[in-house]
Amino acid sequence: MKKKELIYEGKGKKLYKTDDENIVIAEFKDDLTAFNAQKKSCESGKGSLNCQISSLIFELLNQKNINNHFIKQLDENHMLCKKVKIIPLEVVVRNIATGSLSKRLGIKDETKLPFSLVEFYYKDDLLGDPIINDEHCKIMGILDSDDDIQYIKNIAREVNNILINFFDSKGVKLIDFKIEFGRDSNNNIILADEISPDSCRLWDKESNKKMDKDIFRENLGNVVDAYQEILNRIK
Ligand code: TMP
Repeated sequence: MKKKELIYEGKGKKLYKTDDENIVIAEFKDDLTAFNAQKKSCESGKGSLNCQISSLIFELLNQKNINNHFIKQLDENHMLCKKVKIIPLEVVVRNIATGSLSKRLGIKDETKLPFSLVEFYYKDDLLGDPIINDEHCKIMGILDSDDDIQYIKNIAREVNNILINFFDSKGVKLIDFKIEFGRDSNNNIILADEISPDSCRLWDKESNKKMDKDIFRENLGNVVDAYQEILNRIK
């Protein structure tokens, strides 16, 4: 399928039209941003690694009947996807406390949570993606029913269970991750965006070595080498 006009450019991806109005091409960029784009870089090969890792994960989720936007990987950094209208919500699932959870609530870093925590953040760069609850979602019209809210939380938990087991079998601990949902042409809510080391925290099971975007956030070393190791382990 041919790449046509650019529809949208985000921090990590560009979206292009195709001949089919319900299908888009996502191009994964090498750009890296953190802290609401206050920190920026570009790492050659990062986009292609994220495209390959995301494709493998979406394929796995498709096999497990988690409805998502992935159709197929086209080449190293292009993915064919169902067109969706993104719901402006960052759905974060956490298994181990770290990052903003530890900072906000003073929960000791690396504490195993008694159950997996699902959080909602309102996706708005100008507001700095503030954390919100179910009622904010309804008041702001982000999601309009309790059923939709429950549906998203349930899918987030199912994705978490699938990915914990998957990564565990590859010697990797899934600490937390962020996913996004969209509405397809039939107005159904489906999983969208990407699932990659840019949007997950992944630690080596034995050494707790970080293998995700925290390497960039915290200046810990080479992001591309770590993402390559994740790809090698899961492929
Ligand atoms: P946090 O601890 O900084 O809130 O991050 C939680 C998870 O969400 C972590 O896996 C990184 C991911 N994340 C994103 O994918 N995009 C973002 O903008 C932020 C803040 C976090």
